[in-house]
Amino acid sequence: MTVVLESPRPRAVFGRGARPRRYLMCPPEYFTVAYSINPWMDISRPIDTTLARRQWEVLRRTYLDLGHTVQVITPVPALPDMVFAANGGLVIDGTALSARFAHPQRAAEGPAYLAWLRCAGLRSATEAEHVNEGEGDFLVVGGSDGIVLAGTGFRTAPAAHAEVQELFGRPVVSLRLVDPRFYHLDTALAVLDEHTVAYYPEAFSPGSREVLRRLFPEALLADARDAAVLGLNAVSDGRHVVLAEQATRLAAQLRERGYQPIGVDLSELLKAGGGAKCCTLEIRE
Ligand code: ARG
Repeated sequence: MTVVLESPRPRAVFGRGARPRRYLMCPPEYFTVAYSINPWMDISRPIDTTLARRQWEVLRRTYLDLGHTVQVITPVPALPDMVFAANGGLVIDGTALSARFAHPQRAAEGPAYLAWLRCAGLRSATEAEHVNEGEGDFLVVGGSDGIVLAGTGFRTAPAAHAEVQELFGRPVVSLRLVDPRFYHLDTALAVLDEHTVAYYPEAFSPGSREVLRRLFPEALLADARDAAVLGLNAVSDGRHVVLAEQATRLAAQLRERGYQPIGVDLSELLKAGGGAKCCTLEIRE
C-alpha cells in the first residue's frame, strides 16, 4: 500500500483556536455516478472526472496551505465513491474503527480503508461489527474529554453507536436523520471547534433537534438554501472553516462569529452527494 505523506508548508497559520490536523484523502481517479444510493445521485447526469480531480486538488492544496498534513490512499478501480474518505472509518486518540457500508456498491471500501488504517502507525485498528459509515455519521466534538455525535436513520445502525461508545470510551449521542437529502450526519451538521457546531434543524427528528438545542444552545443554524448546497459538509480546524462556496449565508454567519470561512467549489462531487467533509477523514493520534 502506497502512503503518500505531504508535510505542512511553512505558511501555516495557527493560533486563535486552530490546531494542525492530519487528514486522509482519496483522489477521485475513478469517480463517477454509476449507481444511485442517495437522492443527489442521478446516473443520467454526466460527470466530468477531470474537473472533479481539479476541484479535489484545490481542496487538498487548501489544507496544505493551512498547515495541515494530508495523506492520500490509493484509489481502487470500480469503487467510484471511494473519494469520500470520511466514510472510511473513525479515528480517535490513535484508535481506529473500520467502516462497514450499508450498500453493497460501497462494501469493498471497508477493507480498503481498513488496510490503510492498519499501516498508518496507529495504536489499533478494529474491524467493525455493525453497519457504520465512519465520519459520515460520527462527529467528534471537544478535545480529550469530548463526545461523539452519531447519526442514524439512513446508513449507520444504532448498534454501531453502542459499538463506538464501547471501543472509544466516549459518550455517544444518537441523532436521528429524517430527510433523505441529508443521509449522513456530516451533511447536516458541522463541528466548528471544541464547543460549537452548526446544523440544519429540519434534517433531524423533533427529539434529536431538542437534544442539539440543549447540548449546543449557541450553535449556528443553517438555512434551507445553504443546507441544500451541502454547506454544512464543512471541515474546521477550529478557526478556518472549509465549505462549499455556494453557502454564502453560512459563510457570513461564520465570519460574524470569528471563524474564517474558506469557500471551495466541489460541484462535480456534489453530484454524488458529497462535499469537502465527505472527502476528508481526520486521523486523530
Ligand atoms: N455517494 C456517496 C454515498 O451515497 C456519498 C458519500 C458522502 N460522504 C459523506 N461523508 N457524507 O454514500
